[in-house]
Amino acid sequence: MQNFKNKRVVITGGSSGIGLATAKLFKKCEADVIITARNGELLEKEADQLGVRGIVADQSTHEGIMKMVTESTKNNAKVDVLFINAGIFKLAPITEVDASHLDEQMNINFRGAFFTLKTFIPHLNEGGSVIFLSSIVAETAMANTVAYSASKAALNALARVAAIELAPRRIRVNIVSPGPIDTPIWTKVSLTGTQIGEMNSGVQNSIPLNRFGDPSEVANAVAFLASDEASFITGTDLKVSGGLHLNSLS
Ligand SMILES: NC(=O)c1ccc[n+]([C@@H]2O[C@H](COP(=O)([O-])OP(=O)(O)OC[C@H]3O[C@@H](n4cnc5c(N)ncnc54)[C@H](OP(=O)(O)O)[C@@H]3O)[C@@H](O)[C@H]2O)c1
Repeated sequence: MQNFKNKRVVITGGSSGIGLATAKLFKKCEADVIITARNGELLEKEADQLGVRGIVADQSTHEGIMKMVTESTKNNAKVDVLFINAGIFKLAPITEVDASHLDEQMNINFRGAFFTLKTFIPHLNEGGSVIFLSSIVAETAMANTVAYSASKAALNALARVAAIELAPRRIRVNIVSPGPIDTPIWTKVSLTGTQIGEMNSGVQNSIPLNRFGDPSEVANAVAFLASDEASFITGTDLKVSGGLHLNSLS
């Protein structure tokens, strides 16, 4: 197991799913972990249980980002690992996508991620690490995911440019792209329970390893990329998909 003693790790969207699993792993590796989310009740509950700091902040707003950055860098503290993970997943065919569907996903998944990175840059430690949580759909094709896929493709472009621009400060920037992972995000899509069940079994059958991933399997990839073991890895996109990125989804 890697050691992150005395390293400050900020995880956006750390109250649930992949973010929470990653917070647990970094905490186990002795990091000083800070998690963020919008729902204060859930955030507080998880942060207390884990013994980490929680900051209620909406990644899609200027105020939320300023609060997150100000509070996690108090007393000139530097951030060693920034895991930009918060995101939402909503489904609609292109013909039914309206402005609010498109804007909501772009604002949280891409625009918010962009300004989170931009605002944290002066507070990142030399030799630190930034990891973006993207998705294999940024590069494959899955029906009904146009807004989500576009937001993640934009995120990947941001990560690649950031890897070049931050390299002079020895800050590594990488992407983790999961396939389907068993988290609450699947219950938040605007479908009925039966439709979700049908969609999930359809998705599962197209995964070469024939199962959904566990959030801890994504957390392991994030911790690896953040660690010294990945010291010559920047600008890469690590797929954690059970092989699904090799196929297309429809
Ligand atoms: N699960 C999958 O199959 C899968 C696959 C590929 C990629 N991903 C990506 O993985 C990331 C984490 O998803 P998950 O599956 O772990 O979902 P999740 O269980 O729904 O967790 C999402 C987290 O993000 C937070 N969040 C959402 N919008 C936010 C905002 N505007 N500001 C701050 N926090 C916000 C949520 O808390 P609040 O709602 O309280 O804010 C929650 O803590 C997302 O970027 C998602 O796109 C997931």
